[in-house]
Amino acid sequence: MRNELIAANWKMNLHRSEAVGLARACRTMAATGRNGREVLIAPPYPYLAAVREALEGSPVLLAGQDVSQYAEGAYTSQVSAEMLVDVGCRYTLAGHSERREHSGDSDDVVAAKMRRAFDCGLNVILCVGEKEAERDRGEERSVVRRQIDAALGAVSREEAAGRLVVAYEPVWAIGTGRTATSADAQEMHAFLRGVLAGRYDTGLAEEIRILYGGSVKPANAAELLGANDIDGVLVGGASLDAESFNAIFAA
Ligand code: PGA
Repeated sequence: MRNELIAANWKMNLHRSEAVGLARACRTMAATGRNGREVLIAPPYPYLAAVREALEGSPVLLAGQDVSQYAEGAYTSQVSAEMLVDVGCRYTLAGHSERREHSGDSDDVVAAKMRRAFDCGLNVILCVGEKEAERDRGEERSVVRRQIDAALGAVSREEAAGRLVVAYEPVWAIGTGRTATSADAQEMHAFLRGVLAGRYDTGLAEEIRILYGGSVKPANAAELLGANDIDGVLVGGASLDAESFNAIFAA
């Protein structure tokens, strides 16, 4: 049985007091322990420490929105995997489409980031997903397969077991209000599970959680989460409001 993961990606939003307030609301929400669901928050870097403090003693997981591919040194503005661990993160995102799009994260860079994260003991939510034009050309499967193969090239079975989460986030659905239908998402999730089975084995592929992301909101969460191979959601916009994130968690 895969425990569902309800993950919040706050992106570059909120001020410190709002971040702390929202973290407290997530803490209260997670304490209800709905269906064994886990809750994870990825705040902006400057608020990690304050959010961690607000979450002290709660099961809510803390994550970086990204991680440097380098261990340390002269990389102005970057944050290392060790720093994330040091500030209390158990997870990091890697390969989010906004990083791929606006910050030039190539498949190779994403692979290097995964390597650093696993080496430092972090769990990783690897984000993959096709752009609208790629879907229009019928390339969605080959795109996500390429992204998975590149990112997991150097990730062993032992590392992937229990420490890897995949998030399928079709780029055309992120922040656009357009969501994949649960049938379309389910089809891609089943495909991704097959790719993981080919890389590792069926047993491990059955254990790896595959989240859906892209305009998840209270109105579509239950249907998405009801699909067989959708093991949670990665929520951007709707995670910035306690009420709507709570409604997704309770969906
Ligand atoms: P969205 O973002 O829910 O605002 O579409 C999802 C994501 O980018 O992780």
